[in-house]
Amino acid sequence: MSFPSVYPPKQLQVTKKLLVTIDGPAGAGKTTVSRALADRLGYRYIDTGALYRGVAYHAKKRGVPPGDDVALARMLEDLRLGFQRTEKGLRLTADGEDITDRIRTPEMSMLASSVSAQPAVRAFLLQVQRELGREKAAVFEGRDMGTVVFPAADVKFFLSASEETRAKRRFAELQGQSPASLEEVERDMRRRDEQDSTRAIAPLQPAADAIRIDSSAISIDRVVELMLGHITAALERP
Ligand code: DC
Repeated sequence: MSFPSVYPPKQLQVTKKLLVTIDGPAGAGKTTVSRALADRLGYRYIDTGALYRGVAYHAKKRGVPPGDDVALARMLEDLRLGFQRTEKGLRLTADGEDITDRIRTPEMSMLASSVSAQPAVRAFLLQVQRELGREKAAVFEGRDMGTVVFPAADVKFFLSASEETRAKRRFAELQGQSPASLEEVERDMRRRDEQDSTRAIAPLQPAADAIRIDSSAISIDRVVELMLGHITAALERP
């Protein structure tokens, strides 16, 4: 016996291959929203922050100082960084080693922000990201997706939220993983925002043609619905 479904299908029937970018500061909800959008559209989800964290992890392992651009450039000459889809989900590998579970610590957040200011790191990851985006049909999450990496993306979003909201979200995410207090999480976040927004190359800023959404007073589900509205309009454009 079969029951008629009362729910619309979760995944939309999308054949057009768009490139969607979501930029914004830490804790704005980019990851949850990007994953949900990619699921609904049947697109790939690419977390570019993970790539910066991967470089940071590798630099620490090799003893390369995060501010030494020349040493970082040398290190990157033979680093193979990429995503692999496994039964455990999407995994980040560096030279074949699965480092997914090692890059989510507060230490790696700060270190990733530091190495991300270095020209050699940005140039290296620019190529990696553009290669990942070549076939489109993807949602890219990061800081400079709409401004530098994919200036011609089909739909660009800039997702923000108040400092207080973002610190609380980050704190909740870190429960069980880090003993940091809410005040410490907030202080680190502010330092990282400052570093990411004021660096000389590809600082965090909205692209002129980005759709700006503030998630402080609306639920993440609502953000996804709002974004889907804009994406649907883009899918329907000839
Ligand atoms: O999104 P995240 O918190 O995992 O990112 C970690 C750091 O990487 C962030 O503080 C700045 C850097 N980053 C960047 O410079 N450009 C991106 N596109 C993504 C991340």
